[in-house]
Amino acid sequence: MRKTAVVTGASSGIGEATARRLAAEGYDVVAGARRRDRLEKLAAESPSIRPVTLDVTSQESVDALAASLERCDVLVNNAGGALGSDPVAGSDVDEWQRMYDTNVLGSLRMTRALMPALVESGDGVLVMLTSTAGHTAYEGGGGYVAAKHAQRTMAETLRLELVGQPVRVVEIAPGMVQTEGFAVTRFRGDAERAAQVYEGVPGPLTSDDVADAIAWAVTRPAHVNIDRMVIRPRAQAAQHKVHRVRD
Ligand SMILES: NC(=O)c1ccc[n+]([C@@H]2O[C@H](COP(=O)([O-])OP(=O)(O)OC[C@H]3O[C@@H](n4cnc5c(N)ncnc54)[C@H](OP(=O)(O)O)[C@@H]3O)[C@@H](O)[C@H]2O)c1
Repeated sequence: MRKTAVVTGASSGIGEATARRLAAEGYDVVAGARRRDRLEKLAAESPSIRPVTLDVTSQESVDALAASLERCDVLVNNAGGALGSDPVAGSDVDEWQRMYDTNVLGSLRMTRALMPALVESGDGVLVMLTSTAGHTAYEGGGGYVAAKHAQRTMAETLRLELVGQPVRVVEIAPGMVQTEGFAVTRFRGDAERAAQVYEGVPGPLTSDDVADAIAWAVTRPAHVNIDRMVIRPRAQAAQHKVHRVRD
């Protein structure tokens, strides 16, 4: 019986690369996100990828995806991202709410809906896409740092609560990954400002680098739980310590 992996936020960046990679590893992949056209394009690459319109902030949408599954062996809670880079005292409350709703409550909705199937599979793996922002605060990190810390503690708590059950909980915490959407979304569509994030950095991580780590973690033997992987580019020694080459 082929295994099924559900990847949220599969229309772009890390989620898209992960869906593609897990399909190549032999999984039937359910690729969820809001932008249906992009999912259709991805699904056209492989008969193993099924596009599903999904908004993780909607319980109805999450329930519809769960109801469409025959089984679920892997859940990758990837949908999310950052909004804004204002100092805490000048932050937009609405942006904090949206970040919490997508990154944290979105992961919660998916986890609640698919946990019975993960247990039923006999070797379920839940992957939580956090960030180094889930481990270290930084100026302007604001609501994103808070949301990623929440996701990280959710993963830790789940691992404690699920001990004795056939489900592994893996946290993947990347540093700087150059993806299509992340910085553009953070800077509210300002592509020039988004490009500055990666300017002069020799080799930021790619979506494929992170997908590679996810695929490795989920394909370990059932008794091996990779608790957490922190992955940074060589040029990023710490959140604040990034090597940049200037002309
Ligand atoms: N890039 C980085 O430097 C970096 C570093 C560490 C961690 N991360 C984390 O990695 C994850 C993926 O980010 P990325 O860099 O690949 O960014 P991205 O290219 O902007 O992709 C974000 C994905 O999330 C989906 N998404 C957003 N809101 C959603 C919702 N309500 N329901 C369903 N899907 C939703 C988007 O799809 P639709 O818009 O089509 O719904 C898109 O597919 C995020 O959790 C991010 O916080 C990124």
